Amino acid sequence: MEVIEQVSALRAIVGALRCGGKRIGFVPTMGALHEGHLQLLRASTRENDITICSVFVNPTQFNNASDYKLYPRTLEHDISLLQTVGCNYLFAPSAEEIYPQQSVLQFSFGALEAVMEGEHRPGHFNGVATVVSKLFHVVQPHKAYFGQKDLQQVAIVRQLVQALSFDLELVCFPTVREADGLAMSSRNKRLSDAQRQLAPQLYKALQLAAAELQQKPIETIKNELAQQLHQSSEIRLEYFEVVDALTLQPLEKISGQDEVALCIAAFVGEVRLIDNMLVNLKES
Ligand code: PAF
Repeated sequence: MEVIEQVSALRAIVGALRCGGKRIGFVPTMGALHEGHLQLLRASTRENDITICSVFVNPTQFNNASDYKLYPRTLEHDISLLQTVGCNYLFAPSAEEIYPQQSVLQFSFGALEAVMEGEHRPGHFNGVATVVSKLFHVVQPHKAYFGQKDLQQVAIVRQLVQALSFDLELVCFPTVREADGLAMSSRNKRLSDAQRQLAPQLYKALQLAAAELQQKPIETIKNELAQQLHQSSEIRLEYFEVVDALTLQPLEKISGQDEVALCIAAFVGEVRLIDNMLVNLKES
């Protein structure tokens, strides 16, 4: 695997690969790779001739300076993991390489960014859209792989791809979980042992809410879920929403949706975790 730090070097490689008719799969990440990323990478190596992974902790998508500073950075370990899954190129640029000038780009995603992560992390999706656009321009992938754990991010990137006519296929991969249900996330590395024991409560809350969705009003489920999580003083619920799976707009009651998503964000100690679950109402 070749490690590339310069945009110009990657452009030259991608140009030659595309001229040679190679199909490129791309897995954008912020590093601290885990099994969730590795599953995206394995899918990419299966489905494409060449796989490019990026590791870049993107400063413009953090609305909290300490979250950016404390975000785990494990490049050497990431490189050894990438070699085990047959990744061909790692793009690991510096912040100056991606942002030679301060970015003043403004994206607007309408209703989609007014809720949940967009509402609670102002500017977050603007930063995501900026860096993903830059990466797509440089990497020019045929397929790009994202995890369902960041469900709203996938919807934002889907809208971005349509709005800017990026010629690529977006692949959304199911969330990969630890044995106790905790969604895999680079941020899990920041949990203390005691917090790690508590963190699966988020998934348990989603499971309980899913089981009760057809029996109780959404408001009641929300109240019960908040009460249940707040039994631990280490957990602070930021939001729990039942949303339409297509529009991601919060619902007050179920009315004819085929599928909804249960979405949660909570602090466990100082670490902010998110998770979600898709519920097919036609089947239940
Ligand atoms: O999901 C992530 O890791 C990041 O938001 C992404 C897509 C790599 C953009 O920085």
